[in-house]
Amino acid sequence: MKPLIYVVDDDHSVRRLMEHWLKTKWEYNLQLFSSGEQCLEALDLSPDLIILDVMLPGISGVETLREIRKRDADTPVIMLSAQGQIDIVVETIKLGAMDYFPKTIDLNKLELAVRNALEMQSLKRELHQLRSSVAQTGRLDNIIASAGPMEDALKLVHKAKDSDISVLIQGESGTGKELIARAIHFNGKRKDGPFIAVNCAAIPRDLIESEMFGHEKGAFTGAVARKFGKFEQASGGTIFLDEIGELDLNLQAKLLRAIQQKQFERVGGTEVLTSDVRIVSATNRDLMKASRNKEFREDLYYRLASFPIMLPSLRERRSDVLMLAEHFLNVYNKREGKKVRVISRKAIKMLYDYPWPGNVRELESAIERGVLLCEGDMITEDDLPIAVRAFAEGEGVSVPADSVFENQSMIIPLEALKEQAVKHALKVTEGNILEAAKKLHISRSTMYEMMKKYEIRG
Ligand SMILES: Nc1ncnc2c1ncn2[C@@H]1O[C@H](COP(=O)(O)OP(=O)(O)OP(=O)(O)O)[C@@H](O)[C@H]1O
Ligand SMILES: [Mg+2]
Repeated sequence: MKPLIYVVDDDHSVRRLMEHWLKTKWEYNLQLFSSGEQCLEALDLSPDLIILDVMLPGISGVETLREIRKRDADTPVIMLSAQGQIDIVVETIKLGAMDYFPKTIDLNKLELAVRNALEMQSLKRELHQLRSSVAQTGRLDNIIASAGPMEDALKLVHKAKDSDISVLIQGESGTGKELIARAIHFNGKRKDGPFIAVNCAAIPRDLIESEMFGHEKGAFTGAVARKFGKFEQASGGTIFLDEIGELDLNLQAKLLRAIQQKQFERVGGTEVLTSDVRIVSATNRDLMKASRNKEFREDLYYRLASFPIMLPSLRERRSDVLMLAEHFLNVYNKREGKKVRVISRKAIKMLYDYPWPGNVRELESAIERGVLLCEGDMITEDDLPIAVRAFAEGEGVSVPADSVFENQSMIIPLEALKEQAVKHALKVTEGNILEAAKKLHISRSTMYEMMKKYEIRG
């Protein structure tokens, strides 16, 4: 699509000239207006560039620009000025005009300025689209949680998202800490600002300060130019300090100052800088314990953890395993263009019983793999990873009803126990459903429900 340009000038000859070059010669889409009011009325069509006369009848060029900025921060504006209007031009630049031209127009310069402005605008739009696709991953409806500890965590996300309080997300590896951090940012009041992640464990020690706070040219060998740190980049948005437990003590002190006094300096610099950032951090360590053991600054811990969120391991929320598996089935069907509809009963049971040391990430990659391997429309136990199959074979998924607690260290999922209890009762009562229900202290309808659930025939 051709870019749309508005030209606003009350001078007929300027409009003619612009029409000749912009429309006829350079083939842009052009709309001509003779007043600021007319231009503002047409602003909803989102022009890609506005060329605006400083002196206009009715509301002035400056006022028109002010109004444009109020409604849409992004559209580039080039001012046209007559001689002796330099004060006004300066004012318009302060208001965010991108460029200005004297009315004795140099066509080469005009062409270049128009092209630059349009290029910048299209880059901005691209960035905007990219941002919103990134924001998709933080959408709350992409986070699977049934009632229980994960739902509690989501409630906290709702409470924290519109505040600037520092959030510390704790949980084992793969429990969704980054997902939650993104959800807080992309659903909160800073969602249009940047979300900048720093992985404190992945950056070498001697580089992390410059990564966080930037450096001046020549601050150390290799510092060939000034660099803005993540704190500056995150201004107006959120900085996500991932693996914060790995930050060394020296840097912990600098971070504390950046949070407490909202001040920092670039490495090798003297200028004291400030940045308006919201801090979300994450760790899989027990930071409170670490701070008691003097491995982590206690004062920093309390600053970071003003609002703690604990994410449960997948073992602690087995009831979510199936929902998650279905969710990932959809995701990877779409990505791989496959139509895997179901997971076999046996595979489901194996997924359910497996202890998932790598939590949701491990489950996600198991399903991803399953979708890829699966040849029909059903994932069977053969499509599951070896770890899951080995566990099912070794640990014994079926719980021997007579000796449930014999193995003291093994914790049995409640759901598996229930199934065994129902089966056992039916065995003992020789299939008498009413008698079995009575012995189990449950109603007849609950008994039928359970038999249906566990596929036990009466
Ligand atoms: N509740 C959930 N619903 C949907 N997807 C989830 C959920 N929790 C985690 N995931 C997915 O699991 C994967 C791992 O999550 P994430 O990277 O946020 O974990 P993490 O806690 O940051 O892990 P690590 O400590 O290893 O960095 C991601 O692909 C994420 O989208
Ligand atoms: Mg992570």
